Amino acid sequence: MGRLDEAVAIVTGGARGIGAAVARLLAEEGAAVVVADVLDADGEKLAAELGAPARYAHLDVSTEDGWQAVVARTERELGPVSVLVNNAGILEFGTIEEQTLESFRRVVDVNLQGAWLGIRTTAPSLRRRGGGVIVNISSIAGITGYVGIGSYVASKWALRGLTKAAALELAPDGIRVCSVHPGAVRTAMTAGFDDSFTDGQPLPRFGEPEEVARMVAFIAAEATFSTGSEFVLDGGVTA
Ligand code: NAI
Repeated sequence: MGRLDEAVAIVTGGARGIGAAVARLLAEEGAAVVVADVLDADGEKLAAELGAPARYAHLDVSTEDGWQAVVARTERELGPVSVLVNNAGILEFGTIEEQTLESFRRVVDVNLQGAWLGIRTTAPSLRRRGGGVIVNISSIAGITGYVGIGSYVASKWALRGLTKAAALELAPDGIRVCSVHPGAVRTAMTAGFDDSFTDGQPLPRFGEPEEVARMVAFIAAEATFSTGSEFVLDGGVTA
């Protein structure tokens, strides 16, 4: 018996990194998982590894028609959605004066618009299911500021705020919405970060994708009285 038997979950950005760890753990816990990403080869490989009923769906989270297609296919093949993990995200560098408008828009389109579209497209399905949970992967960059990644910081603060608004709007339907705020985690996104990046942290190391996955599974399966809540795992950086 898994903690998420009967659950139908969509994990965006699920092909690698934190999203892949989340997809793996939710599947282990019994959920039927849709790995949604733009990295088709990695996503197909992971879905095959997880085995049926897991499947891969191509989804650019910044597109409304993409979301509609994925939610419709999920309902058709697996039933209404009960867990949505808005994990897809990108990081682009540049101070506010250096970064181009195109780069700013790319970051906001994926990190914020992607989750906003995900919530609004999936909410009717969650409602048909009689309730469920949405987990938004923000960051400690949604709690503090950083130099040189202003668009990312802004998108992650906005995602934290969107979580609160969605939690209030969807609570009457039994849909919980929470945000997760990881510190530095070892993935492709942080591949260029030196090991010394975590020096000086109370827990001076990178987090592992599996640690974030355990938090997401806890929110989905156990944190049944939490909504609009922020779950921080950052080695003590914001303590
Ligand atoms: P990653 O780069 O390994 O994975 C991100 C995934 O999102 C990739 O599979 C990528 O293809 C997918 N993706 C990107 N754009 C997409 C789009 N338009 N549509 C669908 N999928 C798309 O990075 P990581 O570290 O696994 O990041 C996952 C989430 O965790 C992101 O939201 C990131 O901002 C957040 N995060 C990561 C931290 C870290 O230190 N790695 C710390 C705090 C938050």
